[in-house]
Amino acid sequence: MRRIQVGIVGAGPAGLLLAHLLRQEGVEAVVLEAKSREYLETSPHRIRAGVLEHGAKEILRRAGVGDRMLARGLGHKGIYLGFDGQLLHLDFETLVGKGIWVYGQQYLVQDLIRHHLGVGGEVLFEHEAVDLEDLHTPNPTLVYRTPEGRIGRLRCEFVVAADGSHSSFRRFIPGQRVHEKVYPFAWLGILAEAPPAAEELIYASHPQGFALFSMRSPSLSRNYLQVDPRERLEDWPEERIWEELNLRLGGAAEIRPGPLLEKSLTPMRAWVVEPLHSGRFFVMGDAGHVVPPTGAKGLNLALCDVAVLYRAMCAFYKEGEAHLLDRYTQDVLRHVWQAELFSYWMTTLLHTLRDPFEERLRVAKLRHLAESPLLQGFLAENYVGLHTTVRYVDLIPVQP
Ligand code: FAD
Ligand code: DHB
Repeated sequence: MRRIQVGIVGAGPAGLLLAHLLRQEGVEAVVLEAKSREYLETSPHRIRAGVLEHGAKEILRRAGVGDRMLARGLGHKGIYLGFDGQLLHLDFETLVGKGIWVYGQQYLVQDLIRHHLGVGGEVLFEHEAVDLEDLHTPNPTLVYRTPEGRIGRLRCEFVVAADGSHSSFRRFIPGQRVHEKVYPFAWLGILAEAPPAAEELIYASHPQGFALFSMRSPSLSRNYLQVDPRERLEDWPEERIWEELNLRLGGAAEIRPGPLLEKSLTPMRAWVVEPLHSGRFFVMGDAGHVVPPTGAKGLNLALCDVAVLYRAMCAFYKEGEAHLLDRYTQDVLRHVWQAELFSYWMTTLLHTLRDPFEERLRVAKLRHLAESPLLQGFLAENYVGLHTTVRYVDLIPVQP
């Protein structure tokens, strides 16, 4: 049976970045990925996130995978809040001295794969991990199925589950608890060949519901509408989507329609698994925790987990020191709960609530925010990632 140091399940941003960083330290990591490379790089189902915190951009730059991100991504100083028929600009650079970077997750996954394979890294595409054996021994073993249907095994020193929100591997953590919150909303998302509504993102609150105006480039817009979780995509023909997006801008800006490239519905929920490791088995990214998308935190949190586990594994392999591995859950839960708090705050601030009392409180909160530089500072420091990725940038050595 083949022996390796670290076996990673999932070639999402979390699994790929960890493998790449470990390889730079001479640690042999193999990534098992159920889907094909083409699916990861081009499927409309994998468009996903668009906002990188300041710290996430820095981590990726230091890791040596940021060339295209820096050339093609868009640096934004802040965001707009749309409400009461106006746009309020929050300038994060003035408020907290840092901005954000707009770059699609799918492009980032392409970059990570290209760089990792380019230095001889190993990603086994279309190899689904199906079981974990010998969990509480020094050599946990990953069982996988090849594209031809054969069963293979990797005998590892550590196993990492980075297999996304539908993770089948997190079940291997014994005695786990799941803390969950289901929000009574869903997001209808579109990607369209249409210029974005503004040069920076607009988070628009309207009595009819929340709408988000984002982008992937100056000619590709990515927009979302708050809808009831029971709604069906068939009930939202293109004209209705554009009308509703413009209605929720309240006249403060305008979005021009263009051909749709993708349309999806995402229910909104949050959950955190505790603990996130057991012995030599670790859970990272969406496999261990999910936030509602309003704060743009999911991908950024996954990168925080990578930094924590990378530091702990380096201490183990270079200094024979295991105490950072033992602290993994504790260290990760700190940034995870900070992001759950901020995502909850943004979600309940911006989405129309059914309870008339709660709804009036929400509008009062929004007007307070518009007048309070202190509250704007709270939003800004969380949005750019001062409590998440920015804390971990220095853990990543700069690659030449
Ligand atoms: P994933 O990207 O889900 O990767 C997991 C990988 O594991 C997949 O490739 C999967 O095929 C593979 N896999 C699963 N099971 C197996 C198995 N058994 N064997 C082998 N491989 C397996 N986050 C932000 O930070 N900012 C945003 O603006 C943002 N917007 C979002 C908008 C939408 C509509 C959605 C859906 C998400 C958004 N997110 C955002 C969240 C972000 O996309 C996720 O947090 C991120 O993908 C997590 O990365 P990951 O590597 O943990 O998991
Ligand atoms: C995008 C998604 C988000 O959830 C968010 O808060 C901001 C931007 C996006 O897909 O561009």
